[in-house]
Amino acid sequence: MVSADYSKWHHPVLLAETIEALALKPDGLYVDVTSGGGGHSAAILSQLNAGGRLIAMDRDEDAREETLRRLESVNTLGSYSVRASKFSSLSQNLLDDEKGQIDGLLADLGTSSHQLDEAKRGFSYHQDGPLDMRMDQSEGESAADLLAAIDEHDLVNILRQYGEETHATRIARAIVTEREHKAIETTAQLAEIILRAVPASARRKKHPARRSFQAIRIAVNREFEEIESLLNQLPDLMSSGGRVVIISFHSLEDRLVKRTFSKWEDPCECPRDFPVCVCGKKPLGKRPQRKVIEASEEEIKENSRARSAKLRVFEFGGSV
Ligand SMILES: C[S@@+](CC[C@H](N)C(=O)[O-])C[C@H]1O[C@@H](n2cnc3c(N)ncnc32)[C@H](O)[C@@H]1O
Repeated sequence: MVSADYSKWHHPVLLAETIEALALKPDGLYVDVTSGGGGHSAAILSQLNAGGRLIAMDRDEDAREETLRRLESVNTLGSYSVRASKFSSLSQNLLDDEKGQIDGLLADLGTSSHQLDEAKRGFSYHQDGPLDMRMDQSEGESAADLLAAIDEHDLVNILRQYGEETHATRIARAIVTEREHKAIETTAQLAEIILRAVPASARRKKHPARRSFQAIRIAVNREFEEIESLLNQLPDLMSSGGRVVIISFHSLEDRLVKRTFSKWEDPCECPRDFPVCVCGKKPLGKRPQRKVIEASEEEIKENSRARSAKLRVFEFGGSV
């Protein structure tokens, strides 16, 4: 197994469980669409033989640099490449002879510790930095751009839906009021607006800006649209017997993954009381393990981020 010098950049969660769920074949083709600090990628690569290949992808440039550095230190016979890609461009960033041939694909969703810890990336309410929050800083609107233009009602919905923020209305009002006087451009400024907006009782628990920052980050990076796009592409990209492993940290993400896997396993749309299927929709594969896989108490003690991790696995094709 790989050495553990990744804890500062990003500590991979459910590492052994991921490798097991992928049912790695040493000569297989593997794609890690969220390479981050390269922890999972390195563990996959270390198991490959001369016939095995790993494609590590991330939309974040810092992540790709770190992944490359990490993969260069892995003792392996397998080959690898690191590519820039967001989920919605996955298919475009695969070669024709890779499509339909993937034996295992991993998506470890959300943000890396590096993204959260680097003040200049603008994800953190603990440190002051430009209000950016883009995983790919070469495209799209920053969080500052989003907050400058968004309709108040839409902002309430984002805070409620993506952040499960109970004080969404107050926070959205405070943001809209503030931006009429002064542009909101830094993380400290936003954290302060939220702190002032919530009732005193909400200031005693976890940081009152935590849920809003999460919600705004999800909106900036269009995280749910991205996951939906990824899931839609997978049936055409995986090999027969290929396994998809998805680790999510947000209940809405996990629900989407769970529903999609279950639909793939049982796509029949006929009424329950029909004696035989007439819709003709065939299963795409099966869930080798129906139950969600979660971190052990031991792992959670070492890495608190693992607490909310939920791993699900789906196997395409085969005898279904
Ligand atoms: C939790 S980290 C992955 C950590 C990694 N498994 C490791 O062992 O270090 C999630 C990574 O996914 C990337 N990411 C999130 N959404 C993405 C998307 N839609 N397309 C491509 N990369 C994405 C982030 O930039 C981040 O680096």
